[in-house]
Amino acid sequence: MFHLNVRHFIPLQPSSSLMENFDPKMFWIIWFLCSVLLCECSPVPDPDSPMFGEVQSPQYPQPYPPNLQQQWELRVPEGFQIRLTFTHLDIEAAAGCYYDSLTVLHKEKLLGKFCGTENSADGHHPGNHPILSPGNTLMLIFQTDDDNPERHQNLGFSAQYQAIDVDECSAPEPLDGSGPLCSQICLNTLGSYLCACHHGYELRSDQRTCVLSCGGGIFDEPEGHLFSPGYPMIPPHAVSCQYIISVEPGFTVSLNFSDNFHIESVDTEDGLICLHHWLLVTIPDREPIKLCGGLSPGLMETNSSTVKLDYHTDDKGQSRGWSLDYRTQRVQCPVPGRVANGRVTPVLTEYFYRDYLHVRCDQGYKLMMEGEEIQSFFTMCVSSGRWHLSLPECHIIDCGEPEPLLNGAVTVLSGFQNQYRSVVQYHCNQPFYSPLGGVNVTFRCDADRQWRSTHDVISSPTCLPVCGQPTKLISGYQRIIGGSNAPHKTIPWQVMLSVGSGRGGGMVIADRWILTAAHVLVANGATVPPEDVRIYMGHNDVKTLKDTPVNASSLYIHPGYKNPDLLNYNNDIALMKLDQPITFDSSVMPLCLPAEGATYDTGVMGLVSGFGITINRGREVLTNRLKYVQLPVVDQETCSSSLSSIRRTRSDVPNLTENMFCAGVPEGSKDSCQGDSGSAFTLRENGRFYAAGIVSWGIECGKRGTYGVYTRVSNYLPWINNTIQNN
Ligand code: ARG
Repeated sequence: MFHLNVRHFIPLQPSSSLMENFDPKMFWIIWFLCSVLLCECSPVPDPDSPMFGEVQSPQYPQPYPPNLQQQWELRVPEGFQIRLTFTHLDIEAAAGCYYDSLTVLHKEKLLGKFCGTENSADGHHPGNHPILSPGNTLMLIFQTDDDNPERHQNLGFSAQYQAIDVDECSAPEPLDGSGPLCSQICLNTLGSYLCACHHGYELRSDQRTCVLSCGGGIFDEPEGHLFSPGYPMIPPHAVSCQYIISVEPGFTVSLNFSDNFHIESVDTEDGLICLHHWLLVTIPDREPIKLCGGLSPGLMETNSSTVKLDYHTDDKGQSRGWSLDYRTQRVQCPVPGRVANGRVTPVLTEYFYRDYLHVRCDQGYKLMMEGEEIQSFFTMCVSSGRWHLSLPECHIIDCGEPEPLLNGAVTVLSGFQNQYRSVVQYHCNQPFYSPLGGVNVTFRCDADRQWRSTHDVISSPTCLPVCGQPTKLISGYQRIIGGSNAPHKTIPWQVMLSVGSGRGGGMVIADRWILTAAHVLVANGATVPPEDVRIYMGHNDVKTLKDTPVNASSLYIHPGYKNPDLLNYNNDIALMKLDQPITFDSSVMPLCLPAEGATYDTGVMGLVSGFGITINRGREVLTNRLKYVQLPVVDQETCSSSLSSIRRTRSDVPNLTENMFCAGVPEGSKDSCQGDSGSAFTLRENGRFYAAGIVSWGIECGKRGTYGVYTRVSNYLPWINNTIQNN
């Protein structure tokens, strides 16, 4: 490849747009031909330096006048010579052109002194030979004397001149020792010349000499080969070459001076120094390293993506040079540490630019970064050789507080702060509640942060109220009519009702449900509004009881209860739903319901209780204390015939149906009475009291030969269960 560089003047180009794409050389030829042949010329580009012209003696073609001293200075553009051609010359002839003459000069140099005619014997006529000026100027001086013989009429001269391109390249080397025009290749151009260099050389700033190419510049390929100028041949003197290796950030350059290495060094007392010749290796942010000597530096890891090499030699001494291969390697990131309770992948021995790390926590642990939980974690090795994010931590997960259990509690069996794998156990508040399924369920904190039941059936613990098991039992048997005061907590299901001005009883059978007799809640054939009903429980004396009323939200009378004349107590059963659930304890506990198909055997002793009428010193009074009495179940036939015999004297005796049973003793004096209605007649089985009957009606109270009549609860299990379930 040639390094071309225009050095000298380039002739002006015409401004005509038609000519714009013309080769300049062609332009000049055409223009010259036009001007010579047609004489009417296109405008001269530079009026001071035309490409051609004409010179004539004064008055030509008339004879010239005497006493002339006229001169013309011809000038063509620089880089051209002038060729002068006479079309005619007729000047008074004389030896040495003594009288009249035309002198042609270039600068001080005489090119010719002319006179005479073509055929004259004396004088000096140029003939047909053109005169070539060595430069781009030419001086013509025309001189005539005062004696111009009349008979000899001389016409003078006429000459054309034109610019001739100089071939600078073929000019001989100047003698001043400055060397040839171009040290390697000379290219003649119109009006000028160019120097060029052979392959492997480059044109110096003087535009004429060539030096061995440094081969310098910027190297951005991932690998390459560099060597000093001329290597491995003998290099030129005084080189100053710069090589810049600059690869993508994230890669580091290593230099391998693989072959011979020789850079002149100077021996001093302190060792070798790189005084006149050196190779300077500059790595950003580091002290530059000057290399010289005869020992190859071998492999140099720069740990940088850019390296600058400056090779310098002076015009003395000899360095044979150097050569190197460079390679690039991805920047290395430190091997990551371990993450406790987590895994860092992939596991490699080395990590490089653009490698990724992924951190996952072990089961039961979560990713934490700067105090925040994150869903996933990646970090990348970046060009600076660092991980763009530092490693996260794995913290043990926790399931939070376990759900509280209504009427129960949760205790920690193992683990800490509800963390992964902690085990808790649910308990019900014994003895008032017991767990559904009979087991205290344990839950474990799982990896998905959920408390999971370890029981395969029970997924959520439930505490069921314990029914029919008072914490205190009545010892000995006494009576309501003929009964006795019930100690506190012995009949915890007992409820007292105030309905209008009347008093009734009831029994707790569930946390929101009270079972009672229908006739307590019906007045004049209509169900009383729930707000007219006050419910009391938890105490055995009426005074204290009245401090804590509870409200019913709705009342459910058995649909079969139709008793307009108070002669038909069939289906005397009703339910009340409380507006608030009850939390059971020793003073309020539910009564169990009879088992499916329960029959009450004649003679079996039951317990009846209530806040109804009692007999005090021979007078019927409404009790202030809960009373109870123990009564046997009476044979249905016996009860029925007792009622029949009463009917003989009274007309207002209701019928005994299969939904009723009787309890009492033939001799009387132990009975329930007014105000006890709705209260429970309980039987006990397997240590539990259950609601066998509901105080319903009777003919007087405690009278010999009569019995109290009770609603047979076992006949109403479906109705009770459905009502509770559906409301
Ligand atoms: N019907 C009465 C009341 O409303 C209950 C009668 C009970 N009589 C009996 N002798 N056991 O309280």
